[in-house]
Amino acid sequence: MKGPAPIQGTAPIKGAVPLVELVDIHKSVGSSAGVVKILKGISLSVCAGESIAVTGPSGSGKSTLLHVMGLLTPATHGNLKVGGELVDHDRRKAINLRRRFGFIFQDAKLINGLSALQNVQAPLMHIGVWPHRQKKLATDALEAVGMGHRLGHHPGQLSGGESMRVAIARALVAKPSILLADEPTGSLDSANGRIIADLLLGMVGRTTALVMVTHQPELARRANRIAHIIDGVLVDQ
Ligand SMILES: Nc1ncnc2c1ncn2[C@@H]1O[C@H](COP(=O)(O)OP(=O)(O)O)[C@@H](O)[C@H]1O
Ligand SMILES: [Mg+2]
Repeated sequence: MKGPAPIQGTAPIKGAVPLVELVDIHKSVGSSAGVVKILKGISLSVCAGESIAVTGPSGSGKSTLLHVMGLLTPATHGNLKVGGELVDHDRRKAINLRRRFGFIFQDAKLINGLSALQNVQAPLMHIGVWPHRQKKLATDALEAVGMGHRLGHHPGQLSGGESMRVAIARALVAKPSILLADEPTGSLDSANGRIIADLLLGMVGRTTALVMVTHQPELARRANRIAHIIDGVLVDQ
């Protein structure tokens, strides 16, 4: 694997349409203390086959960057393209394009009342997949992360590492092209962290990419590139 290279924005591979492209993205939010400028002109392209580690101090805007990139929250200013398509103010278009992303959060965020299988099936319910097909796809996804023997377990019966594996299966089940992971190993011991990192990096393929926020230098070093963010700005390291 290629070593990490610091980036200030990125040049997409010649001829390839980036899976996601951010150009001069700003994100501000209103708070009781006034307007908070969180992202201040971020330009970044993510191409198929890439893994990018997003690093930087706490509060620098890493999670916000992931949320804007994955269309969970709109940018205040700037251009965002997904698969070459400009994301504008058309909500329906944004919802459709959001399906290209799979999200993994630090604390797994599984639904407590549902089994592992039902948790992984859940994203398929919203996109009109037949129930028997949902079950097959969810079982396959859980088997792919080594959780095929825990289909009926509920979140309270799973370890932290197992919960993360279920969360990864859930993120992958609808076959997204971009995996966005926010500190996926942050709450795991080093052995489990390595298993989860191996799984995530192993998912990157010819048509898929991974963008992961991490505080762990050893994990960041395993990505193709590192995007270091300080106070809402991408900086060279
Ligand atoms: N909805 C919000 N309202 C006000 N401030 C926010 C909001 N979301 C994030 N922030 C602030 O923006 C900054 C960046 O947040 P975040 O993206 O979560 O940082 P990181 O993930 O790098 O720790 C922080 O100072 C945070 O307090
Ligand atoms: Mg964060």
